[in-house]
Amino acid sequence: MNKWGIWIGLVMAGCGTAPGDSDTAAGDAPTYYRDIQPILAENCIRCHSEGGVAPVSFEDPDVVVATAALIKAYTESGVMPPPAPDPACADYHDSEKLSLTEEKKAIIAAWVDADAPLGDPEDAPEVDDTSTDLDPFDIELVGAMAYTPDFSDDGKNDYRCFDVTPSLEDGVYVTGFGAILDNTPFVHHVVVYTTENEPETPPPEEGFPCNGTGEGGWDYLAGWAPGASPTRFDEGEGIFLGPEKRLILQMHYFNSGATGTDQSGMGFWTAPQVSGAIYPYPLGIGGFTIEAGNSAHTETESLDWESEYPDIAVVGVWPHMHVLGSHINVRVVHEDDTETCVMNQDGWDFHNQVPVLLKEPITVTAGDRVDLTCEWDNSADNPNQFNDPPEDVQFGEGTENEMCFAFTYVRLD
Ligand code: HEC
Repeated sequence: MNKWGIWIGLVMAGCGTAPGDSDTAAGDAPTYYRDIQPILAENCIRCHSEGGVAPVSFEDPDVVVATAALIKAYTESGVMPPPAPDPACADYHDSEKLSLTEEKKAIIAAWVDADAPLGDPEDAPEVDDTSTDLDPFDIELVGAMAYTPDFSDDGKNDYRCFDVTPSLEDGVYVTGFGAILDNTPFVHHVVVYTTENEPETPPPEEGFPCNGTGEGGWDYLAGWAPGASPTRFDEGEGIFLGPEKRLILQMHYFNSGATGTDQSGMGFWTAPQVSGAIYPYPLGIGGFTIEAGNSAHTETESLDWESEYPDIAVVGVWPHMHVLGSHINVRVVHEDDTETCVMNQDGWDFHNQVPVLLKEPITVTAGDRVDLTCEWDNSADNPNQFNDPPEDVQFGEGTENEMCFAFTYVRLD
């Protein structure tokens, strides 16, 4: 069953006059230029743009007007924007870009009910283009040449790694990172690992096959999956990158039917010095089986924070599951059994794997426990179910397997 199909049916049945018939707002009705475009820009365009993961681009006002009734139905029902870390769990930077407030939903509904007027382009609020996400990267990590994915191994997945070690004379701090995307339809993740392993000389320009969860001696540094926006640590914070480290770029290509070559990668913003050092701290669960038909299989992993460990402050989390995920949660459980929510997400959309950075880092100290829980729906009712009938799904790196990861970033306090 296709969940979009149900909605399209409902909307068509309830739709009388065509939206966009009038260009003047009735009374105080919201207009496209003044009220709707800013909401779409903040909450929707990162996917609904040319080349984005969504099938329709909302960059053209005529398309938005033509889709108005669906936009109202999807936002009212909460289908769009897709699930994201809940701001009620913890206060994140930019969380207003991830979920729609009730107020924004009401503005969209009122606009559609008023026949979706365009209004006057002069009324458009000024665009804030001061976002530091637009700064050019200081280091660009892409393979030396465009690569044609080869799915002959299992028909579905190709993991390709490239030695992208930059020549650094001194260490630098990575203060943020973002993906450099080329052929998005088949790019399912971009990960950068650091290693001190001896390089192959010279590193093969066309890359080399590698394990989807990395190889021995590789440490996770930064990642991207569909939907993720750039990560920028707080002013004065960054991950140290020593000049002796080699950097491995790992591309996960998934056979989505797309063809052609790809030369995607990752960009770093850097600083020579910072006042707070950040460390990547991936939490994950492996080795599980999700039984066929189970609509709520959960796995939890707990990490006791021993007294010999230093205190840390969690500054951010990037949750990661594959397509059958339905819930993910990270929390700190204190000695007195009280809990601090770090990240909680009800619902999961493979196309919206967003990292969040906390406005107030959460301290983990001796006696605390860090819990990670994932839940999956492996029933026939899951609209993202790909086995008919459902089959047991194992932990694994392929998109048809499942994972439960919280790629966490911590600061030593
Ligand atoms: C993380 C990416 C992402 C974001 C953010 C997002 N969408 Fe979507 N949207 C999608 C994808 C992917 C689809 C197609 C779903 C499918 O076919 O399974 C879609 C489909 C839709 C559709 C159905 C289009 C059609 O013609 O069938 C509407 C309407 C929609 N989105 C509205 C919105 C609105 C409004 C927002 C912002 C408030 C939004 N979306 C934010 C990814 C996104």
